Amino acid sequence: MSETHVDPMWVQVSYLVAAVLFILALKSMSSPRTARTGVLIGAIGAALATGVLFFSGIKLANLALIVGFLVVGSVLGLVAARRVKMTAMPQLVALFNGVGGGAAALIAVVEYLVVDSDDLLFLIFTVATVIVGSIAFSGSIVTYLKLQELMTTRPVVIPLGKWITILVAVATVVGGVWLIVQPQEWLLWALLGLSLVFGVLFVLPVGGADVPIVISLLNAMTGLAVAASGYVLVSGTTAGGAGSGTDRPVRSGSANDVAIMLGFAGKVILVPGYGLAVAQAQSTLRELADLLAEKGIEVDYAIHPVAGRMPGHMNVLLAEANVPYEQLKEMDEINPEFSATDVVLVVGANDVVNPAARTDQTAPIYGMPILDVDAAQQIVFLKRSMRPGFAGIENEILFDPKTTLLFGDAKDSLTKVVAALKNV
Ligand code: TAP
Repeated sequence: MSETHVDPMWVQVSYLVAAVLFILALKSMSSPRTARTGVLIGAIGAALATGVLFFSGIKLANLALIVGFLVVGSVLGLVAARRVKMTAMPQLVALFNGVGGGAAALIAVVEYLVVDSDDLLFLIFTVATVIVGSIAFSGSIVTYLKLQELMTTRPVVIPLGKWITILVAVATVVGGVWLIVQPQEWLLWALLGLSLVFGVLFVLPVGGADVPIVISLLNAMTGLAVAASGYVLVSGTTAGGAGSGTDRPVRSGSANDVAIMLGFAGKVILVPGYGLAVAQAQSTLRELADLLAEKGIEVDYAIHPVAGRMPGHMNVLLAEANVPYEQLKEMDEINPEFSATDVVLVVGANDVVNPAARTDQTAPIYGMPILDVDAAQQIVFLKRSMRPGFAGIENEILFDPKTTLLFGDAKDSLTKVVAALKNV
């Protein structure tokens, strides 16, 4: 069992040194005489900031893939930069710039899909990164094609081009605002597509001599997108801000710890919530329930009427996994049973088990009947982080000494628990 991760002092100092190196690099790059040194200082700063992460104690998923792509990217960059003729430098810069913008946009897309947060600032920065990064990417690619003379270097004028560009720009802005107000996955993809199209339409009418100006503009856009993607990453991991309670200690456990708890229980109650739907883990949850039942352990599913995001969400989800209807127990029926339960496994639920609904008059869920999971002997939460649920408020049970947190996507965690339980 372990506590939440805090960077050791040497890691924090290294990040500070890297930041100072970046500032020195920018200063040196402002004069042609010191520019070479500036580039070198910047490269050392970037290597330090990236390298430290690998030794900081943070568990990195897909380490082999990360290292593999780092090597591939570095080799490609090195070879391209060494081979390029001085005359072809502008198009190489355009290409590298485009890749930077595209990477920032992709980071924002992935973070949006993984984090699934309603946090306003997170959404604003996600939208900004996707739009600016995608425009920088597609615009830079067209610039590269022009400079490399793979397409005409003259301005490309398409019929009604100006109006089409305005229409796409307006649609992009409307899509961005809509995504912030009502986050939906399809909108994100639409926004990505619109921004890419806008980047192309924006650069097509630019003629040869004006291309360097466009490169500068796109460069600046990539810088903004990368900075914004940094905010997306940070707010993605701490979305919920002050209320996330990340500085308070919690008890986290491994899948093995949870399997042992479950395997030695006499009675287990499973509490599914919105996260079960996000992870599409209903079949794996059923597999776990079946395995527990095979071991002679009494298992029930506790169904809260507003768990998930639509009426009957949990019933539909569990019916999909062919869970027998009689195993689903409504809130009023199951609540008296929690005090006689050894382990409650809360799978991607939060608000529907939050005792603030009973005690905190300022809470948006105050007065809502909840599942009384805090009456059980032990409580296990399967969630990805310390972020709150739909209501955006902290859940005191997460800090209860009888609570264990198994961090990760619910499907991954359940798969690991099932595998471990087979050996208990
Ligand atoms: P929530 O309170 O929204 O909590 C969902 C939890 O799932 C979060 O703590 C989240 O934590 C976790 N999660 C998300 N994705 C996950 C994943 N892939 N793997 C593991 N965990 C994941 O859900 P709830 O307890 O079901 O409550 C429903 C809420 O929605 C209530 O406030 C209700 O009023 C509201 N609501 C309901 C409806 C209807 S009709 N059902 C309609 C609109 C609103 P992490 O981010 O840390 O993983």
